[in-house]
Amino acid sequence: MSRSRPLPVPVLRRVVHGATRAPSVHNTQPWRWRATGGCLELHLDPARRLLATDPDGRSATISCGAALHHAQVVAGALGWSSTVVRHPEGPAASLLARIQHEPAAPPHDAAALLEAVEVRFTDRRRFTSWPIPQDRLAHLVDVARAWGAEATVVTDARDRLRAERLVLQAGALQARSRRTAEERDAWVDRRTPDGIPAAVLTRSGVRADAHPHRYESVPDTDLERQDLRDADSLMVLHAENDDPPSWLRAGEGLSALWLTATTLGLSVVPLSQATEVDEVREALRHQVLGGAGHALLLARIGWQEIGRSEQPRTPRRPVDEVLDLA
Ligand SMILES: Cc1cc2nc3c(=O)[nH]c(=O)nc-3n(C[C@H](O)[C@H](O)[C@H](O)COP(=O)(O)O)c2cc1C
Repeated sequence: MSRSRPLPVPVLRRVVHGATRAPSVHNTQPWRWRATGGCLELHLDPARRLLATDPDGRSATISCGAALHHAQVVAGALGWSSTVVRHPEGPAASLLARIQHEPAAPPHDAAALLEAVEVRFTDRRRFTSWPIPQDRLAHLVDVARAWGAEATVVTDARDRLRAERLVLQAGALQARSRRTAEERDAWVDRRTPDGIPAAVLTRSGVRADAHPHRYESVPDTDLERQDLRDADSLMVLHAENDDPPSWLRAGEGLSALWLTATTLGLSVVPLSQATEVDEVREALRHQVLGGAGHALLLARIGWQEIGRSEQPRTPRRPVDEVLDLA
């Protein structure tokens, strides 16, 4: 007999609050939570999709997958295990997951991961040149895999060079698209509890510690800049299929590896432009993954300097705005 029970409302609100801390493309927070029939449902919010930048909804679904993982981590730490049915109404439906909960002892790493939910953020400052030991990277790959996602560290020098060129090419192609540029600008400095405040965006030329990123204005021919530096580790999340179930799993894997990286003191910065542009994503598949899988997201990983100044955080919409209590 199932021991599943609806979460008490205070727990439910803490779970959803924790889930809102998840990373999302342009901080769009493209999720809605609904408590109904004793379950907690996660929906993709179509009004928050990036129709020019992410027409398939790949990055939006990955973002929701990250929120789904955050919700499971927080519920686990509060003494509730989660049983998740993904895509209960089929892969095209906006209902992404239905979660049932039952009381359970928190996992051994619950406290560390709960803290990581609170402190994790996208730190776009340059990494130090300290290399990441291979066993740590292998551990992050294993963590993603445990959540049903495939991740590969790009170590071969030629593959890396190709990936670097493709990241730059994607940025240049997007810079030429007026709709994509307008969409990006619409999500920067909105003065609402979503999008990316200007204060978190370090800019090359203004701050010595800035790393090139998609939110600065760059000429579309600037292929000489380096979005990746030699000491940065580069990871590709990929899957056999390029479809919503794979994207959701990739998001859960991204969140799992990012929270674990946070507990290890490592910094993760997604680079989704390369997977948002169709021809670049295809090129990644053939030139970097050897045709073995579909690239879903790139991320650079590295160490930030110890004792660096606090960075301002991106805001989140309050629980009442993202949770419907039936
Ligand atoms: C699917 C996805 C794609 C992202 N793509 C980029 C990117 O291309 N460049 C970047 O600087 N940050 C990227 N981010 C990070 C988001 O901008 C960041 O998570 C969001 O602004 C919230 O900020 P926080 O991570 O500091 O909480 C991405 C995040 C996700 C989940």
